[in-house]
Amino acid sequence: MPVKSPAAPLSYALIGCGRISVKHIKAVLKKNSGLTLSAIVDSNPAAPANLLLAAGFSDKKAKKLLDRVHVYTDFEEMLRTEHPQVVAITVPSGLHYRIAKAALLSGAHILLEKPMTMCASEARELYEISESTGRKIAMGHIYRYLPFVATLQKEIADGVFGTISHGSVAVRWGHDQEYYDQAAWRGTWKSDGGALMNQSVHALDLLCWLMNGEAVSATAMLARRFRDMEAEDVACGTLELSNHALCQIEGTTATSPFDHEASFFINGSKGNLRVGLRKGKPFFDIRDAAGHKRNFYYLRKELHEKGFGSLLTLLNPHAGIYKDLVLAIHENRSPIADAKSGYTSVEMVLGMYLSAREGRQIALPLAADFSSEDMKGFFDGSRNTAH
Ligand SMILES: NC(=O)c1ccc[n+]([C@@H]2O[C@H](COP(=O)([O-])OP(=O)(O)OC[C@H]3O[C@@H](n4cnc5c(N)ncnc54)[C@H](O)[C@@H]3O)[C@@H](O)[C@H]2O)c1
Repeated sequence: MPVKSPAAPLSYALIGCGRISVKHIKAVLKKNSGLTLSAIVDSNPAAPANLLLAAGFSDKKAKKLLDRVHVYTDFEEMLRTEHPQVVAITVPSGLHYRIAKAALLSGAHILLEKPMTMCASEARELYEISESTGRKIAMGHIYRYLPFVATLQKEIADGVFGTISHGSVAVRWGHDQEYYDQAAWRGTWKSDGGALMNQSVHALDLLCWLMNGEAVSATAMLARRFRDMEAEDVACGTLELSNHALCQIEGTTATSPFDHEASFFINGSKGNLRVGLRKGKPFFDIRDAAGHKRNFYYLRKELHEKGFGSLLTLLNPHAGIYKDLVLAIHENRSPIADAKSGYTSVEMVLGMYLSAREGRQIALPLAADFSSEDMKGFFDGSRNTAH
């Protein structure tokens, strides 16, 4: 039997060397990642070296690597010169659209951090460019890549949990004032948004993906309770899905930074599930209609089908995103967190923002374009703010 030769590694460039890029670089530099790091870009010339140090490189090893790859401060010059096959975009969210569009039009497949963009029409445009050019967009929606998630998604879609009545998600991803003060873009309507757009967008994506529906309407109330920032640190809202299931949403950064939690509950006529992460530790409780635990069945299934490596994605879900993107490129299929998940999740958040602004339920997809920046001034005057 002929031995299938492994595909040659794809050339790769990273744009943005801040906090999250550490996860990216670790995933890409892993043996057999299928990618070869060819260029690094950051508008701050010191950032690439700082990134490698943060990723655990010694000064000597960091210098050796930076001598080998090409370092740029201008992403357009990098795209023109290097023509990388895969580009990761890990810059402040307000810059995603411009850089992602340029990278796609240069011919690259991209891994784009969440949220896809800050504006509904721009998210749709990136999706359409991806469809018309065949360039893949993998979104940084890490939750889709965690153990059990893909299996649960398929089983819910196959009806194992019966008809889904409703679900809820609580994202309690505490950040203190220091987090918001460390960069001017954080917590601004234009470049970041608040707890919904930054910390919850990928959780909304996961809830709807698991529940096998698209949001058709949104409501929300927003507050700025503890943090000195422009956007919200607390959001409570609802989504109605195309399959009539209802969702309850809590997204906040006003909780303790030492007790991060993202918890999901989904209820069906034949079973229910509670899954999530708290303080970095996963938990799951999956039950059939009689209330019997099904955890062991899912654990065995996961290990049998995907091996122990599946559980290791908990350590760095970005490694799972890269692995899937490289395969998606070679197999010419959509990544697990595809371009559509990018724009639908941005629309959900923007629908909730618009609902809070206008005090009414908002139909989705949005009837007119809307951007996080349109929320400017929301907390001016007598709005709900406590500092
Ligand atoms: N998927 C996840 O779990 C996850 C987690 C954290 C952050 N993120 C997302 O990643 C993105 C970056 O977040 P972060 O916390 O790493 O931010 P950060 O501020 O720590 O890093 C951003 C980097 O981009 C650089 N930059 C700014 N403008 C640039 C430009 N024009 N060209 C090149 N580089 C430029 C900055 O100098 C900085 O080094 C955000 O969109 C955020 O929402 C995703």
